[in-house]
Amino acid sequence: MTRATWRTRLGFLLAAVGSAVGLGNIWRFPWLTATNGGAAFLLLYVLVIVLVGVPGLLGEMVIGRRSRRNPVGAFGALGGRRWRALGGVALLASVVVLSFYSVVGGWILRYTVASASGAYFADPQGYFAAIDFGVGAAGFHALFLLATVAVVYAGVDRGIELATTVMVPGIVVLFGALALWAVTLPGSAEGYEFYLSLDVAYLRANFLDVLVAAAGQALFTLSVGAGAMLTYASYIGEDRSLAADGTIIAVLNTGIGVLAGLVIFPLLFSLGISPGQGGPGALFVSLAGAFADLPYSRVVGLVFFGVVLLAALSSAISIFEVLVAYLVDERDTTRSRATAGVGGLFLVTGSGAALSPSLFTLLADTVANLALTAGLLGFLLFDGWVLGKAALDEYRNGAGRLARIMGLPWYYAVAVVLPLFLAFTLVSGLGTVLGVPVTTPQAAAVAVFGVVGAIALLRRQADSAV
Ligand code: PFF
Repeated sequence: MTRATWRTRLGFLLAAVGSAVGLGNIWRFPWLTATNGGAAFLLLYVLVIVLVGVPGLLGEMVIGRRSRRNPVGAFGALGGRRWRALGGVALLASVVVLSFYSVVGGWILRYTVASASGAYFADPQGYFAAIDFGVGAAGFHALFLLATVAVVYAGVDRGIELATTVMVPGIVVLFGALALWAVTLPGSAEGYEFYLSLDVAYLRANFLDVLVAAAGQALFTLSVGAGAMLTYASYIGEDRSLAADGTIIAVLNTGIGVLAGLVIFPLLFSLGISPGQGGPGALFVSLAGAFADLPYSRVVGLVFFGVVLLAALSSAISIFEVLVAYLVDERDTTRSRATAGVGGLFLVTGSGAALSPSLFTLLADTVANLALTAGLLGFLLFDGWVLGKAALDEYRNGAGRLARIMGLPWYYAVAVVLPLFLAFTLVSGLGTVLGVPVTTPQAAAVAVFGVVGAIALLRRQADSAV
C-alpha cells in the first residue's frame, strides 16, 4: 500500500498550523502570561519561540521527512533498531498530552453547547465546579474524542487536510472579529496595558522561573517533542524548504496566540476580573462570567467557545495521528482498525484524567512539559550526532538561499546549544516536580555533564558503527 501524502503545500501548512494553534494558545497562554508578569512573559516567550522553538521544530521535521515514517519507524530506519525506543518516548508523550487535552476539549464542547441556553451565566463558578471532573466530564471527553476519531479515520488528505483547511482560516477570521469587537468594550484599555506593557523589574527578579515557564510553553504551543510535527512532515511528498515552512508555522501560531490575548485580556479587564486567579478553570470561570454581562451574551459565548473547539480539535487530531501512523506503518494494521484501537486507548486514559483531578493536574502541569522537553532533547541529539551531515542535507533539500546560509548555525544550535538549554530546563523542572530544589548553577552543571556525556557516547557508537 502506498503511504499517504498531503495533496498540497498549503494543505500541509494549514494542518501543521492547526496542530500548533490550540488550547495552548487560548487556554494555557493567557493563564501563564497572567501568572508570570504579563508582557515580561510575552517577551521571553517570543524569544524562546524564535531561538529554541523554530530550530527545534525544524529538527523534528527533518527526521520525519527524511524517513517518511512514524516516530518509532523513523528512528529505527535512520539510526538502527536500538533507536526505536526514542520513538517510544514520543508515543508516550503523545499519550500524556492527549489524555488531558481531550478532557479540556470536552469542557470546551460542553461550554459551546451550554452557550446556546446560557446555562453557565447565572453562576459561572458553580457551573465549572459542577462539570469539571466526574462522569459528565468523561462523557464530554468521549464526545470530543469521537470527533477527533472521525477526522483521523477519514485519512490524511481527505480527513485531516480537508478539515484543517476549513478550520484554520475559520479560527483566524472569528478571532480577528472578536479582537476588533473587544476594542469597543469600555475599560478594555487596562487589559491591553497589562498584556503589552513590560515590567522589567518583575522580569529581573523572576528571570529563571519565567524562562522555564516560557520554554515549556514554547514547545507545547509549537506541538514539538511528541512526534506530531515529525509525523506530519513524514507525509510531505516533495522537497521544499522546511525552514520556510517552519517559520510560517511559528509566525502564524504566535500571531494567533497574540490575537487570542487581544481578545481575552480586554474582555477580562473590562469586567474587572483579574486574570491571575490561577488554576486550569480560571479561563472558563472568568470568561463565562464575563460573557454573561455582555449584550448578545449567548452569541458571543457560542462564537468564542466554538472557535476554541475548532482549535482544540485540529490539535488533538495531530496527536492522535502519531499513534495511528505508528500502528499503520509498523504493525501493518489498516487505518480504520488503528483509529479504533487508539480511540479505545484514549477513552480509557482520558476518562482517568476526567475522573481524577489529581491525575489531570499532574499530566497537564508537569508531566506534559517534561515529556515534550525530553522528547525534543532526544530528537535533537539524534539529529546532531546520529544523523549528523544527513540532517543538514535534509534541512537543505529544497531550501532557498537564506535558509541554506542558516543551515550551519541551525545545525550547531540543534547539536549543542539547544540540547544544553533543554537539559537545563528539564533538570530544573524535574527538581520542582520531585520537590528537590535545584539552584541555577546546579541545574546548569548537571545539564552540561549530561549533554557532554551523551554526545561522547553517541560519537563512540558512531565510530564503532563505521
Ligand atoms: N500545540 C497544541 C496547542 O498549543 O494547543 C498542543 C499540542 C499538540 C502539543 C500536539 C503537542 C502536540 F504534539
